[in-house]
Amino acid sequence: MKHRLEIETMGKMKVAGPQYANGEITISGSKNSALPILAATILTDEKVILHNIPNLADVNTMIEILENTGKKVMWENSTLVIEKGEEKINSILPYGPVRKMRASFNVLGPLTIRNGYAKVALPGGCSIGVRPVNFHLEGLKKLGIESKIEHGYTNSKFTENNHQKKIHISLPFPSVGATEHLITTAVMLKDTETILTNCAQEPEIVDLCNFLISMGARIEGQGSSNIKIYGTDRLYGTEYTIIPDRIEAGTYAILGAILGGKVTLNNVIEDHLFSLLDIFEKLGIHYEFKNNTLIVSGISKMELTPVDVETSTFPGFPTDLQPQLMVLLSLIPGRSSITENVFKTRFNHVDELNRMGAKIFVESNTAIITGVTKLSGAPLEATDLRASAALLIAALAAEGETVINNVDHIFRGYEKLFDKLEKLNLSVEYFE
Ligand code: UD1
Repeated sequence: MKHRLEIETMGKMKVAGPQYANGEITISGSKNSALPILAATILTDEKVILHNIPNLADVNTMIEILENTGKKVMWENSTLVIEKGEEKINSILPYGPVRKMRASFNVLGPLTIRNGYAKVALPGGCSIGVRPVNFHLEGLKKLGIESKIEHGYTNSKFTENNHQKKIHISLPFPSVGATEHLITTAVMLKDTETILTNCAQEPEIVDLCNFLISMGARIEGQGSSNIKIYGTDRLYGTEYTIIPDRIEAGTYAILGAILGGKVTLNNVIEDHLFSLLDIFEKLGIHYEFKNNTLIVSGISKMELTPVDVETSTFPGFPTDLQPQLMVLLSLIPGRSSITENVFKTRFNHVDELNRMGAKIFVESNTAIITGVTKLSGAPLEATDLRASAALLIAALAAEGETVINNVDHIFRGYEKLFDKLEKLNLSVEYFE
């Protein structure tokens, strides 16, 4: 069965608070694993079967991109079957999908390697801050892919003759996307050893590498900052199950800490959430982990202790949980702070939380948070995926009615959102 989630209009959510969460849900497959793994299926013409894929707007954008490159993609519940279609590989990717989702850009390397050339739109501005792709292009150049930027597109060519047998690339910052893009390209450089240093170490990178290894790639060091890749000219079909989504899990864990009751989350990998659990311990939040199940209990915020948090690359505290954590810290007496080190201006949600009565002051890349006893409902504007999740949690905690405008960003990252909220005994109304 093939089904689609087309989200073109921007909806609103109406929430009456405060509400209390109680219940049990199962965390979906990881969006940020699914996207680079789907992009990597371009590397083979053989059948690839992927399990535990979340049916999200971003995943469907990546499916459209694969179909545009000539793949046939079928959903079977949470499994995707990807096969070679009738048509030749199309190496042109227009601005539409890249504008919707920056991770689309990561098909540039695999397409260029498969077809000798590719024309892929360059991502533009982004609501969570400046997000250039210079590390990608500089790294690809070292791998033998020359790119010219013309009319908003990268025109890339694989100059096979120039590529050496041993390539060393040191990333200026451990970028998740650049690490993934370079790995996915280097695995297809026959007889070439590529050493990537200062790599990102996120679990999604390990997942991508394990997937590529299951296709026949030779990779060592994934999960550390040095990754070695021995290239080949052929990768094979495979069947693979992706990891659970640690950001979705973290979001519901924070929701549980604020609104619980008792929130039980199944299909969670403890090591992937270590930095959040460490903060929970410092704050005094009760949680329990048993066989991939996380149980979080909310207690009176008056009993919790404020903290200072910094976002960083894995294993540090993820920037993708920063807005959600800020809601929790807003409700704890005393002065907390969050320093954002990954996307230094990712504070769009601050003014909205302040409109609900929070006391947050941003100085450079640090938000200073003075805890308040309650938030009050207000009309709000959501600007991006994780900000939308934070505002939804805040609305559920606040007294009175909140309307969140432009809330559809949330469907990019939270599968079966309404089902899961209902299972947690929470109710929201949605309007298009
Ligand atoms: C990925 C995640 C995103 C998460 C982010 C950081 C996916 C699909 N998205 O995004 O949810 O918030 O990691 O954990 O997995 N940078 C450059 N030049 C580049 C590339 C990055 O300067 O060529 C900078 C960025 O502007 C940013 C930092 O590096 O300040 C980290 O970005 P990066 O890790 O690349 O994030 P994404 O891969 O885009």
